[in-house]
Amino acid sequence: MNIFTIGSLNLDYVYTVDHFVRPGETLSALKREIFPGGKGLNQSIALARAGVPVYHGGCIGHDGGLLLQTLKEAGADISLVEIVEEPTGHTVIQVDTSGENCILLYGGANHSLTPDLLERIFACCKKGDILLLQNEVNALPEILRLAGKKGIFTALNPSPWEDSLRELPLESVRWFLLNRLEGEGFTGEKEPEHIAAALRNRYPQAAVVLTLGAKGALYSGEEGDFFVPAFPVKAVDTTGAGDTFTGYFLASIREGLSPEQAMRRGCLASSIAVTRKGAAPSIPLREEVLQAEKSLGF
Ligand code: RIB
Repeated sequence: MNIFTIGSLNLDYVYTVDHFVRPGETLSALKREIFPGGKGLNQSIALARAGVPVYHGGCIGHDGGLLLQTLKEAGADISLVEIVEEPTGHTVIQVDTSGENCILLYGGANHSLTPDLLERIFACCKKGDILLLQNEVNALPEILRLAGKKGIFTALNPSPWEDSLRELPLESVRWFLLNRLEGEGFTGEKEPEHIAAALRNRYPQAAVVLTLGAKGALYSGEEGDFFVPAFPVKAVDTTGAGDTFTGYFLASIREGLSPEQAMRRGCLASSIAVTRKGAAPSIPLREEVLQAEKSLGF
């Protein structure tokens, strides 16, 4: 069973600030750094660092060499990434002193997926493979339809949230990996248990993994419902924490761990990631996560 990501690749321009800039304010940043990122790339990196072979499909511009190099160094297959004439997707990210972020996203080349590229990607997938998707590329409805037709299990991280996501054909979704806001967007419910129940009711074929930030994460699936607490750490930069969780969760499922073990490993990996700057660079290696599990007595 192979895992494919069709997802964004962004250059993250990260500005360290003592508070987020306010309307009408000009604020001097304390520092600027450029990191590889994009929800798609981060999740592929997390899968690869967790020890799972991953194929990444997507588009970059001629200025996206750093992103290809980062994926390659992590061990991801980059043969399904196309270089197009649009500039590479990028973000402007403010990170404040408590490690919280706010992100301005420019999709750029991430919106250049063509039917030809999708055909090339799906020609490499077979029934039973896993497709990991987020909401930073174009053509999501078409991608989900193709996945359903081919019997591919989709793991959907509907992030960043947009109301149009409600119209997606979601029958091939096997895992919803989402936060509270995204869950509320799909269901109109506010409480985590109610969000999970409403989604399970509508899509009984899918398990729901609801991330709750510094609190932890909730699982609801045919194996049961349970909550896994987060590991308390001092956050330096929370960018990419959810992506780290998603990659480690799926990698652990692929490895044959139970959903509960997979959730715990995802939480632990993301708690390590938030102690470091940047999105992709902060994602821990498998050995670090296993070592942390050992020292916590798992
Ligand atoms: O989830 C974090 C990611 O969101 C960043 O790397 C940024 O590129 C945005 O896509």
